[in-house]
Amino acid sequence: MMTGQTPILVLREGTKREKGRGALSNNIAAAKAIAEAVRSTLGPRGLDKMLVDSMGDVVVTNDGVTILKEMDVEHPAAKMLVEVAKTQDQECGDGTTTAVVLSGELLKRAEELIDQNIHPTIIAQGYRLACKKALEVLNEISEKVDIKDHELLLNIAKTAMASKSVSFNRDQLAELSVNSVVAVAEKTDKGYFVDLDNIQIIKKQGGGMTDTQLIEGVIVDKEKVHTGMPPVVTNPKIALLDAALEIKKTEIDAKIEINDPTQLNAFLQEEENMLRKMVETVKRSGATVVFCQKGIDDLAQHFLAKEGIYAVRRVKKSDMEKLAKATGGSIVSKVSELNAEDLGKAGKVEERKIGDDQLTFVTGCVNAKAVSLLLRGGTEHVTDEIERSIEDALNVVAVAIEDGKIVVGGGASAEEVAMRLRDEAAKVGGREQIAFESFSEALETIPRTLAENAGMDPIDILIELRKAHKAGKRNSGVNVFTGKMDDMRALNVIEPIRVGRQAIESATDVAVMILRIDDVVASKSSPPSPPGGGGMGGMGGMGGMGGGDFED
Ligand SMILES: Nc1ncnc2c1ncn2[C@@H]1O[C@H](COP(=O)(O)OP(=O)(O)OP(=O)(O)O)[C@@H](O)[C@H]1O
Ligand SMILES: [Mg+2]
Repeated sequence: MMTGQTPILVLREGTKREKGRGALSNNIAAAKAIAEAVRSTLGPRGLDKMLVDSMGDVVVTNDGVTILKEMDVEHPAAKMLVEVAKTQDQECGDGTTTAVVLSGELLKRAEELIDQNIHPTIIAQGYRLACKKALEVLNEISEKVDIKDHELLLNIAKTAMASKSVSFNRDQLAELSVNSVVAVAEKTDKGYFVDLDNIQIIKKQGGGMTDTQLIEGVIVDKEKVHTGMPPVVTNPKIALLDAALEIKKTEIDAKIEINDPTQLNAFLQEEENMLRKMVETVKRSGATVVFCQKGIDDLAQHFLAKEGIYAVRRVKKSDMEKLAKATGGSIVSKVSELNAEDLGKAGKVEERKIGDDQLTFVTGCVNAKAVSLLLRGGTEHVTDEIERSIEDALNVVAVAIEDGKIVVGGGASAEEVAMRLRDEAAKVGGREQIAFESFSEALETIPRTLAENAGMDPIDILIELRKAHKAGKRNSGVNVFTGKMDDMRALNVIEPIRVGRQAIESATDVAVMILRIDDVVASKSSPPSPPGGGGMGGMGGMGGMGGGDFED
């Protein structure tokens, strides 16, 4: 007797599906490809990448997360790795390349184990155990850091910037970063808290990199609207308006019929009166400076200038919020409701010429926890890369102050953790032990890659490193500049513990997640996967770069 052989359709026709080993090895291949793409940028001797987007815009960078964001990644597993980089960036602002390279390595080693017939679940368990132990060891070998340890903080900043192409100006940028973070750090009962939003970054092309400076206050990238306004206002009372100092134009085309010149006059007079009244309200509140998020009518500008009020229009929303915080003023959305108690205070509001532009500087703010970094550099590419470097530096210093713990970089900590895991592996037993060992080997990819990118022989240096760490020299790492093993602590190559911790955690998470997938179902709407790409397409590109802020 024959049983029914008709296939049952569970999925919609045209759905692409990959199962079992095939699915897993495709996912691993995609993840490895991503890791491979950023690998050569790791470390101070790592190379840069030039990325050209579909609009032809060029970005030259060394920053892992920037590279991955700009790349149009399509494979779902590859996208998971891009997410790892983004998480790393959000949590620590540094170590994105490390996290991705480590993820790739964990998966590569997992593949070897699968080839030896070890089940992915066992590997995942071994990895989880090893991850837990690795984090314990990392904590054990960490060192304390305090907000007052200026030198130490400087070195953390310098280490983070070492691998960026503007590395020749590290000392000054490190000093600026540490000073900014220390200025905005807030002490709480649970230690320090740093809100990096309190550090404003303004980029202005022109001038040299050395003209980059720290300003205690807020910079608004706008000039005063009228030349008749005072260039400097001391002890200003600042109005923050989210309303236009203009007469509303009708949305639809309206026609007004005027058949008598006096009517026209009356009409214009009425408009003038309304504007005058607005300016009077501002004046009556006691304001001597106005930051307006919307437009200011020419006539209103003239009235404001006559009253000696300094006014700026079309200020970005984010700047308005910074101004509110820094000056203690509140943003008012109806001119008629502006009152004396809405006004913010500062020491000085002043227009200064930077390069070709006039900017408005608000200094001596009541809330001192607001600083601005004015970045200068010859071209846009330079200022952009300075920004990325400084952001890395700000982040690592902030994270170091918050956590109060640092570890030694240059592959030293990675090697130390790897070695202690190897010693620990025997206690694990069972098949998980093999995965545990693979995990420790994967950690060594950090010193190995640093060495490779410096043109050194990775095998030789690993053998040397293992020997040194066995002998208790836990700070031995890769000196990429001399091409030899060195004491990285003595060379001041240090990092906040969070960078390493987060990299280990998220690399393990993504590896385990990918290992547990044995079925990939891609819906019909997806475009077909590219030949040889081994992928299930779909989900579109990763386009979309920020923006949206109000600009003149
Ligand atoms: N002077 C140095 N000698 C050796 N290694 C160094 C030195 N300075 C930094 N490193 C190491 O370089 C690695 C960091 O490199 P890099 O900044 O390129 O990558 P990342 O921090 O992982 O990612 P990204 O900065 O792109 O987010 C760390 O392992 C760090 O310890
Ligand atoms: Mg870095």
